[in-house]
Parts: sequence; C-alpha cells; structure tokens
Amino acid sequence: MKVLAVGGGGREHAAVEALYRSGSELYCVMKNANPGIIARSKKHLLCDEKDVNRVVAFAKENGVELAFVGPEAPLEVGIVDALEKEGIKCASPTKDAARIETSKQFMRQLVRDHGIDGNLSFASFDNADDTEAYLRTLDHEIVVKPVGLTGGKGVKVQGEHLHSFEETMEYVHEIFDGNIGGAGVIIEEKAVGEEFTQMVFVDGRNIIPMPLVQDHKRAYDGDVGPNTGGMGSYTDADHLLPFVTEGDREDALRIVQSIVDALAEEGCPYRGVMYGQFMLTVNGPKIIEINARFGDPEAMNVLTVLRSNFEDICMRMATGTLGDGVEFAKAATVCKYVVPKGYGVKSESGHEISVDEEAIRGCGAIAYYANVDMKDGKLVTGTSRSIGVVGEGPSIEEAERNCEAALKHVKCDAIFVRHDIGTRELVQRRVDHMSALRNA
Ligand code: AMP
Ligand code: GLY
Repeated sequence: MKVLAVGGGGREHAAVEALYRSGSELYCVMKNANPGIIARSKKHLLCDEKDVNRVVAFAKENGVELAFVGPEAPLEVGIVDALEKEGIKCASPTKDAARIETSKQFMRQLVRDHGIDGNLSFASFDNADDTEAYLRTLDHEIVVKPVGLTGGKGVKVQGEHLHSFEETMEYVHEIFDGNIGGAGVIIEEKAVGEEFTQMVFVDGRNIIPMPLVQDHKRAYDGDVGPNTGGMGSYTDADHLLPFVTEGDREDALRIVQSIVDALAEEGCPYRGVMYGQFMLTVNGPKIIEINARFGDPEAMNVLTVLRSNFEDICMRMATGTLGDGVEFAKAATVCKYVVPKGYGVKSESGHEISVDEEAIRGCGAIAYYANVDMKDGKLVTGTSRSIGVVGEGPSIEEAERNCEAALKHVKCDAIFVRHDIGTRELVQRRVDHMSALRNA
C-alpha cells in the first residue's frame, strides 16, 4: 500500500523501517534529509512538516491511501484533518484529539472533568501576577510548565531545577516574557517516584498496549542537568519494567483507556498511537503527560521488537478496527541517543558524523538516523538528537552491552551520549528508589 510518513527524526525512521518491513510503498515528508528514511522511500519531499498544503498536495499527487504522522507540531496545525478531507486514512489524531498533548491545560481538565484516576493538582494562568498569588498559597513542591508545546524542554521541577521561590518566579516571568509555548503557564503538583512510559495503539475506542519503556529526560549521567527530549530508554523482555508490577501497569492502562473514552465522549475520538507518561508513586501511577504520538526515543525501543505488520496496525487504527493480536518479541532493548555537544543548553551543529550500519548490526543493534542532514554530500549533525542506537538482547544488561559495542561505530568529534542508561547500576537504583518509597 502507498503510505505517507511525516517527520524526519529517530522516531520516524523507526516507524518507516517498521512500515517498510510490512511491505509499504513509502512517501516521506521531512524537513531534514534523513538518510535512513530516504533509503526506504519511493519518493520524498523536503519541506516544513507543518506546511499542510504542501504535504497534502504531495500525498494526493502520489495517490497515498494511508498516512502516519510522527511529530506533534503538524498534528497541532491540523494535518490529519486536511488529509482526511481528501479521503486519506490517518493513523494519527485530528487537531482536536491531539489537544491531549498540545494543551496541558486541556489534558488536566479532561482528566478532572471525567473523574479519571492519576491526576495531579494543577492550575493554569495567563499572567505572572496571578501565578505568583497562587504559588504563595501552596505548601507543597510544584512543577512549572508552559501550557503549549515546547518539544519536551520547557518543564522545570522545584527541588531539581528551581531552588527558591525567586527562581520559580524568574522562570514564570521567562515563560510569559518569551511567550514560551504560546499559551500561558501551568503549575502542577510535583509527583515523586519513578517514571515509565505506557504507549498504546488506539482506534477511536479500543487500545492495545505496547511494552513499557523508561526514558531518561535529564541531559547528563546520573540524572542531572536540563530536561531534554529524552536521552535514551530501555524495555525489558517481559514488557514490564523491573520496578513496575503487573498491577501498576493495569492501573496505567485503565487511566489511558478512560482518557480514550473521555475523548470519544467529548466528540473527538482518538486514533493513532497514544503515549502515557506516568510517575509511579506510592499511591499508584500519576499522569505526567499524555502525548498524541509515539515517544522519541521510546518508539525506537518498541518498534525494534514489533513482530506484527505495522502497516496493518496503522490501517486498523485509522479505520476503527483495531481488534487484538499485536505481537512484540520477548527481548529487552536499550536505546542511547548520540546527541550534539551542548544539547540541552545550546547545541553545536554542522559537524560531520559517520555511522557504520553493518558493524552496528553485527553488534546485535540497529541505528536510527534522527536530526542529521546532508550538506555538500556529507552527513552532518543538526541542533537536536543525532542518531539513536538500539541494542537488543535477552536481558536489559545484554541489550545495554550490545548498544555500547554498537556506539563505537558512530563517529563524530562533537557529540555526547548518556552511557549510564540501561546499566545494571542505574536500573538497580530505580528499583531501590521505588522499594524505599514503598517501604517508607
Ligand atoms: P514533560 O515534558 O511533561 O514530560 O516533563 C519533563 C519531565 O519533567 C518529566 O519527565 C518529569 O521528570 C518531570 N515532570 C513533569 N511533570 C512533573 C510532575 N507533575 N511531577 C514531577 N515531575 C514532573
Ligand atoms: N521521550 C519523551 C517524548 O517523546 O515526549
């Protein structure tokens, strides 16, 4: 089938590989020349992914039947609504359904209005004075977020990034003065625990879960530094995580199902991949954010072990016929992102980077190209994450070793990697942290 895929990052390269394995004939739109995606495309178009008219024209010209949109930005401007108007089926949500990600205020309010578990107390504001007045009434730690989209980088947590009332207000002013996210500020109660990602396939009503993943948002080893889009992630062979029980996972799935039900009741049924990020606390999973797409890097973990036909799953999501029967290999994965020097603060870009794909495969791993570009015939780094390397193995430890061996075959003189992701030491720290909280 002719399939349109939108987006040029690691997540989209992983989705394109899965579609290619399924037999799709691919028509891809991206802003950067991602060589991994281009290699699998029958045709590609380099353009702004939010340029709805150009993307729709490209899809029509090539007679595509089904579309898959990777990033959130084109969803926010209604790319799915426009494609559907042309009769193209979409395995991604409409603009209204995507508000579950594009407005953090919409998400929290929906969860509150529908009495869904897992919410955190919150309030949103359109000016700094009201925010300050509210903050003065609180006696618990909070998190400051722009309401709108910021590419995963706008969140600051009290006690981690914000160490005093003054610092908190400084950041609130920064958001309003810079109009960061474009829609005001939301203050949320800070949840304490261990984070995990539950992604599901959704067809408007029904969900099918994917393996649980743990991402690492902080830029540097030891979970310190600024929040990033995600530095790397792992999955376990049993599709749970070492600190998450089957019961915790069922709680998270119940929350996600309730959100899907609520969106249908609100008249904007959700189709596509939904991403639930949770903090596992002593009181069960709490919602950190819901995204209208695959996580990046999480997509690279789960799509690497997806054994079912992804084109078929996309069609089932798009047409409300999800059913069941999606299979993932019982293997663990560890993904580490190679990112440009300065990433998280101020990236250096334009450095030549080389990837020996065959040597990487020889290590039991796979490389997904992300924010890289072709300049004068050379592969160069962009300002965002460069290459995702996913090691696979029977355990997290072995997957991690394969990933590390493979990373030696990515060469560039202006990059860094969080080498601690998926190591026995860091995973054990998560388990110990969770049991300490549970036993306290
Ligand atoms: P987000 O972009 O919303 O996923 O937030 C980025 C990171 O900030 C998350 O991965 C968490 O580590 C942290 N965070 C966000 N919201 C909260 C919250 N309400 N409580 C504690 N940590 C949070
Ligand atoms: N890895 C987090 C996200 O995709 O939002």
